[in-house]
This record gives sequence, structure tokens and C-alpha cells, in this order.
Amino acid sequence: MSEFVRVYEVGPRDGLQNEAAHVSTDQKLQLVEGLLAAGLAHIEAASFVHPGAVPQMADADELISRLLQRHDASNVTFTSLVLNEKGYDRAYEAGCRHVALGVAVSNTFSQRNTRMSSEEAFTTVQRLTRRAAADGVWVRAYLMTAWVCPFEGPQPPRKSLAYARRLWDMGIGELSVADTIGHADPLNVGRLMEEIGRHTDMARLAVHLHDTQVLGLANATAALSAGVRIFDSSVGGLGGCPFAPGASGNLATEDIVFLAYKMGFGAGIDLRKLWDVVAFADKIIGRRVGGRIRDWWESHAGDEPDIYGL
Ligand code: COA
Ligand code: ZN
Repeated sequence: MSEFVRVYEVGPRDGLQNEAAHVSTDQKLQLVEGLLAAGLAHIEAASFVHPGAVPQMADADELISRLLQRHDASNVTFTSLVLNEKGYDRAYEAGCRHVALGVAVSNTFSQRNTRMSSEEAFTTVQRLTRRAAADGVWVRAYLMTAWVCPFEGPQPPRKSLAYARRLWDMGIGELSVADTIGHADPLNVGRLMEEIGRHTDMARLAVHLHDTQVLGLANATAALSAGVRIFDSSVGGLGGCPFAPGASGNLATEDIVFLAYKMGFGAGIDLRKLWDVVAFADKIIGRRVGGRIRDWWESHAGDEPDIYGL
């Protein structure tokens, strides 16, 4: 068992896409740079989707080009979500060499989110994965609505496993299994992650959790026990999905990092610097953000500094 967890930050993408406040490109740049300063090295910074569908991501081209100009891509990765050919073209043109693709287990969600059936999404992912291999672009794939769909309800684990294996067999670099609306429970998260891990490679398997029903940390713990070491999270617990009614913010980065440290795992993240980013997120979003641990942290900061990577 590895003693490290890797946090994959999705705040600038999954987080901001569902916030009503308009966040400027300069503010996004500052947010990402705060995250880098705190030690986050894998950041999903933007999505190249239709700007009418997700106005918050309309500046993806500018943001990615500016980030790549300012930061050496050999130390950090900036990934962009891409759901069709046009998105891939735009991302590549902007210099992006790390893309995240996706297929939903629920066909209804797939249609609502991307106007494609799950089968059409598989075809798209297959095509884009081939292009990426030829272009030297790294691919992560999301398995969306792996446990529960906002429209269809609970998804059969056997179907989620089969879809995960199909994605894996396309030769992707990393698979992220997503509880898109945050309705999964620890037992089912542990079971499915363990099962998918058995048929793939646990070291390249991520779990993507939302904290809608306040089970984000419980689900993360179950995934950790199943052997998962890559966790998607969003600073301040920002986020949700505009196409998934009821979805609230992602598992908060500060929560998963705190949990990891509490359980003796390394994460390479300076929690104290991360709190500065949470405070900055308050400012740009215009409300107090933050995960489950924030209140405790603010009233007890420094109590047990030895275990928090400080
Ligand atoms: N970026 C910019 N424009 C895009 C685009 C993209 N990635 N994909 C399509 N378009 C444009 C096309 O150029 C076309 O423009 P035109 O009418 O001026 O010719 C128009 O959109 C329709 O193209 P089409 O291929 O039919 O796309 P669509 O309307 O079926 O939309 C998606 C497909 C996936 C691009 C769209 O549903 C989308 O962006 N959804 C957002 C999903 C999302 O971000 N979800 C949250 C994260 S999971
Ligand atoms: Zn999400």
C-alpha cells in the first residue's frame, strides 16, 4: 500500500462551472496559482465545452494558454475537460496536453449533459483517445453517474464495472469514477472501487466525490480502504454540475487533505497555504465557502501542527 494520496484539484473547473458569481480570467489565474503554491500539482483548470452551455468556462482558451506560458508543464499538469471533437481541437490549439473525457453510466444523464447517448460518448472517447495517442496527449476519463443518476436513480454496479472496463481498455492514462451528484454511500463506493481496481490498475484509479449528502469524507474513507489513492476534490468544496439537479459541491480539498494527514498518508500539500486559497475563494465567490473541517480548523489552528504537513 502506497503511503501517499494524490489530490487532483477540480475547483477551477467542476467548482466554478456551477457558481453563479462571475469569476474573471485573472481571478482564475490567481486561484490556480494559489493552489500550485499550496502544493497541488494536478489541476483540472477548464473545460472546452459550448460557452453557451457553461458560460463560466468561456475563457478556457485564454486561461489555459496563460497558465502554460507561466508554468513549466513538466512539474504540474493542467487538464481540460473535453466532451467532443471541437472541444479537443480548442484545447489542443490552446496548448493543452492533458485532457479529461467522459462517459456516463446513465444514458439519460448522458443525453441531458452532452446531447449524446452513452454509446455515442464511448465512440467519441475512443476517437479522441486515438487522436490523443497520436498527439502525445495524456488522457483521463470520467465514468459519470457511476452510482446514482439524478434522473434514473441508482445505477447497477455491474453496468458501472462493465463501462469502467470498456474505458480502461481504450488505453487511457487514468480513470476517475464519479459520484456526479453526491448520492453514493460508503458501502457501494468501497465495493465498486475495489471491483474496478481488480480489473484495472488501482494506482491509476481515481474517485470523484461530491458532498451533497455530507457523505463525501465517509465515501473517501471507503475508497481509501479499498486501495484508491487518487482523489478529485475542489478547494472550498466549490462546485456541482449544472446538468445534474441536486448536485452540490465537490468533496473539499482541505477535507480530503486533512483526512489523509489524520490517517498518516502524505499528500505533499501545505494545509496552511491551502487555507489562504479557501479565503481567496470566499472573495471571488462572494460567500463563505469551505468544507467540513473549516470551522474546526479556524478555532483550533495550530493545536496539532505535527500531523498536518506543516
Ligand atoms: N466548444 C465550442 N463550441 C462548440 C463545442 C465546443 N466544445 N461543441 C460544439 N460547439 C458548437 C458547434 O460549433 C456548433 O456551432 P454552430 O451552431 O455555430 O455551428 C454548435 O455548438 C452545435 O454543435 P453540436 O456538435 O451539435 O453540439 P451540441 O449542441 O450537441 O453540444 C456539447 C454538445 C457537448 C458541446 C454541449 O452539449 C456542451 O458543451 N455541454 C456542456 C456539458 C458540460 O460541460 N457539462 C458539465 C461537465 S460534465
Ligand atoms: Zn463533479
